[in-house]
Amino acid sequence: MIEFKEIDRNNFFDVIDLRVAEEQKAFVAPNVFSLAQAKAFPECECLAIYHDEVLVGFTMYCMDDDDKEYWIYRLMVDEKHQSKGYGKAAMEKLIERIKQDQEHKVIYLSFEPENSMAKRLYEKLGFEADGRVIDGEIVYKLAY
Ligand SMILES: CC(C)(COP(=O)(O)OP(=O)(O)OC[C@H]1O[C@@H](n2cnc3c(N)ncnc32)[C@H](O)[C@@H]1OP(=O)(O)O)[C@@H](O)C(=O)NCCC(=O)NCCS
Repeated sequence: MIEFKEIDRNNFFDVIDLRVAEEQKAFVAPNVFSLAQAKAFPECECLAIYHDEVLVGFTMYCMDDDDKEYWIYRLMVDEKHQSKGYGKAAMEKLIERIKQDQEHKVIYLSFEPENSMAKRLYEKLGFEADGRVIDGEIVYKLAY
């Protein structure tokens, strides 16, 4: 079962130790960067992803200060735990969490054009291109 936990003194060092594969490093910022970013941008919500009490990944979403819409800014699953369905399950759970806010109707995210695994995952979840490319990343949206 996939669960989210806050990042605190109990899991901070484990979360910053999570790693993606060498060739995936260009696709996602290090978790330590994201945690620092969330300190300066308190609208960013960081969550540790657990599978059956084992820490497997990290995600960060936010109510973007520019467009006042939800964006999933980060998603990563540790190299050792990839391709077991955890990324997809975590995304489904995160989408459900964001959907609780009935005042909003769309979730955005973006990814590098070469990141075919992320593209397939997001398309499977119902995301589609919204036509924008921001800082070289393709923007996808999910209307709910
Ligand atoms: C993208 C990422 C989060 C996916 O997490 P994951 O737990 O490995 O993915 P899942 O096992 O849930 O698989 C989700 C989908 O990805 C695709 N996928 C999974 N493993 C794959 C592989 N080895 N090759 C190609 N596609 C793969 C499949 O479409 C899969 O869906 P399916 O199993 O229903 O066919 C993870 O690979 C990751 O951390 N990558 C590096 C960081 C990154 O790119 N983050 C996204 C930034 S936008």
